[in-house]
Amino acid sequence: MFKEGISYREAGKFEETRFEKIHNVIFESSKEASILVAHEIANLIHRKEGLNEPCVLGLATGSSPIKVYEELVRMHKEENLSFKNVVTFNLDEYYPMDKNNIQSYHHFMHEHLFNHVDILPENINIPNGTVSPEELQQYCIDYEMKIISYGGLDFQLLGIGRTGHIGFNEPGSHINSGTRSITLDHLTRVDAAPAFLGIDNVPRKAITMGIGTVRNAKRIVLLAWGISKADILKEAIEGEMSSQVPATYLQEHNNTTFVLDTEASSELTRVKTPWLVKSCVWTDELKLKAVVWLSELTSKPILKLTDKDYNDNGMSGLLAEEGTAYNLNIKMFNHLQHTITGWPGGKPFADDTYRPERSNPAKKRVIIFSPHPDDDVISMGGTFDRLVEQGHEVHVAYQTSGNIAVSNEEALKFAEVSSVLNSESNESNDIINFLKNKGKNDIDSIEVRKLKGLIRRSESLAATRYLGVPDSNVHFLNLPFYETGTVKKGNLTAVDIKIMCELIDEIKPHQIYAAGDLADPHGTHKVCLDSLFEALKQLKHNSYMDDCWVWLYRGAWHEWESYQIEMAVPMSPDQVLKKRHAIFYHQSQKDGVMFQGDDSREFWVRAEDRNRATAKKYNDLGLADYAAIEAFKRYHF
Ligand code: F6R
Repeated sequence: MFKEGISYREAGKFEETRFEKIHNVIFESSKEASILVAHEIANLIHRKEGLNEPCVLGLATGSSPIKVYEELVRMHKEENLSFKNVVTFNLDEYYPMDKNNIQSYHHFMHEHLFNHVDILPENINIPNGTVSPEELQQYCIDYEMKIISYGGLDFQLLGIGRTGHIGFNEPGSHINSGTRSITLDHLTRVDAAPAFLGIDNVPRKAITMGIGTVRNAKRIVLLAWGISKADILKEAIEGEMSSQVPATYLQEHNNTTFVLDTEASSELTRVKTPWLVKSCVWTDELKLKAVVWLSELTSKPILKLTDKDYNDNGMSGLLAEEGTAYNLNIKMFNHLQHTITGWPGGKPFADDTYRPERSNPAKKRVIIFSPHPDDDVISMGGTFDRLVEQGHEVHVAYQTSGNIAVSNEEALKFAEVSSVLNSESNESNDIINFLKNKGKNDIDSIEVRKLKGLIRRSESLAATRYLGVPDSNVHFLNLPFYETGTVKKGNLTAVDIKIMCELIDEIKPHQIYAAGDLADPHGTHKVCLDSLFEALKQLKHNSYMDDCWVWLYRGAWHEWESYQIEMAVPMSPDQVLKKRHAIFYHQSQKDGVMFQGDDSREFWVRAEDRNRATAKKYNDLGLADYAAIEAFKRYHF
């Protein structure tokens, strides 16, 4: 049986440092972590059952707790975990919000947990988004009193918003606040926009338990996954306690654990700059990370860093190991220098000892996997162009149809053209009727989804033709996990993996490029990457895979850190323009896209800014001054 609290320290990575004010544990994968949290909850339920007492759980919604609920459901079905003695109080609900609305937290909780376990309906408490404004205040007081009447929360599960909110306690919330109505922060609404198909549909208010309500829980576990949470977690764990970051109020709770995955923990001092915390085992990667960090901190190119710079910034141990700053500087500078190549497919007949790619075979078979139909050109349009120009056999595989990102207006335009050209076509007329009468929350019909997918397909072909790829080398995989018609996708299944395997097996590539960009708003890139990793696992035993190198790009949402880059492909100003034109072919994703995220720049602007920034970073480190650079990291399978 899982021991509470302490076991997190054994299972994950936990080291107390002088920077950290909240106990936290880091796990390689959110799944492994979620299972442990679910087991802690299950143990508590059992313990309370043994005492013949109700187990009072405070529950959260959102993406963070989903796998915890999955494991609880599994334990109910396979291990007889009963919820008969469980009483739940959900943290929050949008206001106003109907229970039956698929965006309601009421719906979320039933879909992910309550419908699948034996909890008594009368024991479920979720703030009611339909109470009238006049009754709201009393309703909130009653909710608070009901929690107290059960003796308070035994366990509170939390996520954290990018504003630092817990529940919907946005910046400005008081440490002693109770259940109340609150106005949502703009950033919170931006983050919720995809689920509501646009920010205009996101409610402006919510009902939330207060910080005081949460802090009265006997045990609190906060879950955070992914790079997008990294900055706010550093503030919550290491910053001063302040109403501006409500999660910092947990610093004074004596039984709180933050459970993080590697990416969410990446800004913590002990992870980002461990040499400031303790003496380190200096691996090559850590050395490079530290030297790049020091160069950025001191605003000096690497070759100008001195012994004093190292000693003053917690790296005397490294210096002692390496001899002098001079030796270390040259070593790191050369390493970075060797990542730069204008020959992403390898330079034929050249000595490749210090090049990122092999020179042989001179002509390679290449697959560029693109999660959505445009990530290829947005993320690696310059490298793509080079590969084609340098004579490699380049294939592009669009993993998903990307249909949900085409607006209704765009689809209507195409349907109307099609109906004029073929007035007999019932399909076009059905689509026109559907789109004209579509309600705010309606899911597209199969025909509309098909049309939207076709629009993205034609745009992709226009772009790949522009870059000189024959249509026969362009593959539209339409992976089924994506085809739900909603932002929420299905799970990867054997069918998705089979489609991936078949393509790789047919082409037998020497190079695979794939999106290692894990911060896209709907998680599609991560699922697409998982599908590739699974396919690689299954194909590994084939001899042609010994010759296959996998390069991960990052694109519209964020970039590799300089120290992580293993291949840097520079672009001239002309190549930057060519890449821009290739992106322009994706017209449905221009001039105001459906899923903008919190960045108002268009995709081509983001891509150019990012590639320019990478080039500047290289230049600041003391390397040559390029107009733009696309960056890749190798994945070893
Ligand atoms: C949800 C809630 C919120 C979320 C937070 C993180 O009930 O109260 O505080 O936990 O916004 O959301 P995700 O997990 O979707 O990143």
